[in-house]
Amino acid sequence: MINNPASRRSLFLLPCGAALLLGLDAGLLLLGLPAPLTLERLPDVHGMLMAIGFVGALIALERAVARGGGWAYAAPLGMAVGALLTLSPAPLWLGAVLMLLGATVLLVTYRPLWNRNHDPAVAIQALGAFLAVGACALWARGVAMPMVVPWLTGFFVLTIAGERVELARVGQLFDAKEVRARREDQALGLSMILVMVIALATMAPQWGLPTFGALLVLVAVLFGWRDVARKTIRSTGLPRFSAAGLLAAYFWLAVAGLLWLRPAMEGFRYDAVLHATFLGFVMSMVLAHAPVILPAVIRRPLPYGPAFWMVLVVLHGSLLVRVGADLLAVERVRAVAGVLNIVALLALVATALISVLTAKPPATPDQAELRLTGKA
Ligand code: HEM
Repeated sequence: MINNPASRRSLFLLPCGAALLLGLDAGLLLLGLPAPLTLERLPDVHGMLMAIGFVGALIALERAVARGGGWAYAAPLGMAVGALLTLSPAPLWLGAVLMLLGATVLLVTYRPLWNRNHDPAVAIQALGAFLAVGACALWARGVAMPMVVPWLTGFFVLTIAGERVELARVGQLFDAKEVRARREDQALGLSMILVMVIALATMAPQWGLPTFGALLVLVAVLFGWRDVARKTIRSTGLPRFSAAGLLAAYFWLAVAGLLWLRPAMEGFRYDAVLHATFLGFVMSMVLAHAPVILPAVIRRPLPYGPAFWMVLVVLHGSLLVRVGADLLAVERVRAVAGVLNIVALLALVATALISVLTAKPPATPDQAELRLTGKA
């Protein structure tokens, strides 16, 4: 029996980790390479394993900790276990429904936060969770993955945008209150437009997807320009590392937006837009936030070290090669770069594990946890 709440929380990371490893295995199969596991359904569920079972469940776990636990843990559990279930002999709909339930719980966790003080940052993140519900519902109904991708993209873009709006308050302490409020209202307005465009793109992809692409470019430029990362990139240590991860992520979001202007539903260009988004934007954001968010979730320090830079460089270097190979349609180079993408994600997990296991646990809750739970 595990009595320590931090250890209990860490257990939720296990299904997320399994979803990541199986998703990477499926990535190898999709690249046409040999893989440790060759389950029949693996290539078909790679996208949901990675986006919902791994990253989505991590986001939901962070939210559950921030909410103080309880039923909110059903969100990461449903998302990760549901994604894993899609690989079992059970009917596919069972895993799909579980992921849908998990995403719905995530959406509901924003309600008490919204009721507390009608914060635009919470509204933006709730809109993101709404898109996760939409993505899972469409997938459960058997809608083709290329039509689900904008919903998954929107889920991540708005979750991160809400987080950045919240964090920007610290950097904008000296700006006039009205200026801050106007910027936050603009961010919320843009988020609402993004949700509407994603819904319309599902019904009328021929013009909806290019409009979605243009909006992604706008979001990348606006959020990138206003982000405190433009200042902290000139500092040192962890703030500089996080800023580099953030700015690189905005760059890839803009690239993905540009690629959506001429949408492709299969082949090399499809691979380019997918992974500019999910590896370049999403995974870079995960990497930039990991040394701050993970300690709050598992209640152990995750000391920042130069190894994090190595992961960042391998991730973005290999992605540049992959997207370049996609655009030039050079299959072999794409496969090599894809393997290096996998190496980068495995190196991220190894770096985090080694840093956590070799660090001393704190005697009292640290600042990261207090910030996450709103007690700081
Ligand atoms: C780390 C290494 C990764 C590799 C090697 C990889 C490989 C691939 C390949 C080869 C495809 C097929 C592309 C095509 O149809 O042309 C694909 C699709 C996809 N990937 Fe990845 N991927 C990786 C990471 C990720 C991550 C981190 C995510 C999400 C967070 C992700 C989400 C997706 C999605 C949503 C699809 C579309 C699936 C479909 O159309 O059925 N991938 N991936």
